[in-house]
Amino acid sequence: MLDVNRIANKVEEAISLPVVINEVIKVASHPGSDAKKIAEVISKDPAFAAKILRTANSSFFSFVSKTNDIDAAVSRLGVKQVRTIALAAGVGKMFKGEDDVEGYSRINLWTHSVAVATMGEMLAKMSIKREAKALASEVLLAGLVHDIGIILADQVMHKNYSEVPALAKQLNSPFFKIEKDRYGFDHAKLGAIVLARWKFPNSIVSAVAGHHKTKAIEEDTMTQLVAMAEFMVYPFGFGFSDIPGVPPKMFSKLQKNLGILGPAILKIKQSFSEKLTEALEIFQDEKKTVEV
Ligand SMILES: [Fe+2]
Ligand SMILES: [Fe+2]
Repeated sequence: MLDVNRIANKVEEAISLPVVINEVIKVASHPGSDAKKIAEVISKDPAFAAKILRTANSSFFSFVSKTNDIDAAVSRLGVKQVRTIALAAGVGKMFKGEDDVEGYSRINLWTHSVAVATMGEMLAKMSIKREAKALASEVLLAGLVHDIGIILADQVMHKNYSEVPALAKQLNSPFFKIEKDRYGFDHAKLGAIVLARWKFPNSIVSAVAGHHKTKAIEEDTMTQLVAMAEFMVYPFGFGFSDIPGVPPKMFSKLQKNLGILGPAILKIKQSFSEKLTEALEIFQDEKKTVEV
């Protein structure tokens, strides 16, 4: 068995977030923060400012008019949305690289993460419950980082970790069960510890920590949205998945708890692949068409 905190220390030694991302996290988490302050921070990094502009003008966010002004872009997106894009840009880079092993590749894991994020946002928006609706922009971030622990584990203990995807495939088992048996902790725990050290919002850290735990899923709305999104994207088969299937009983329970009615599910299924293509254009930094 391994000590998860020691692995998290290794991650911290090996990987750090870009300065501008750390600044955005700091400013956005400040109680009195507004769009203007975040725009100031972003303007200091021209490449990053260009990315925010591209994102604000993208079809994913579907604003009617285009803008070339970073202040306007930030205020139309809002503080939470800008924080999501900033953090996504910071972590998205970690998913690059061709370290494919059997049953898993970083880029496919990122596609899966973008799919869960996009689906989570759609579910929140379609919910008839106000509490779930209010989480739409935050669940986008939670979905993007929900499996970051897989990348981090792969990064710092690659040789050993590369057997996990192969075993998961062979045994038709979720990653987290194999990880717990081998290491005594899973990617959800490692991801949550590192995200907390990087000062990600608490609600995101808890959703990441609990996304494979039945009790946590039942008790926390954000965690429920991530879990339900993961179940919803599974049949589409986008990218790779760290779960081998969807437990039907749990699916209907989540649907009821989150207030997502049958017609809403149908509507989401119809528009999901188009929305995902738009999301991948932003979060993958390259145009990619998704085929169903
Ligand atoms: Fe996971
Ligand atoms: Fe996942």
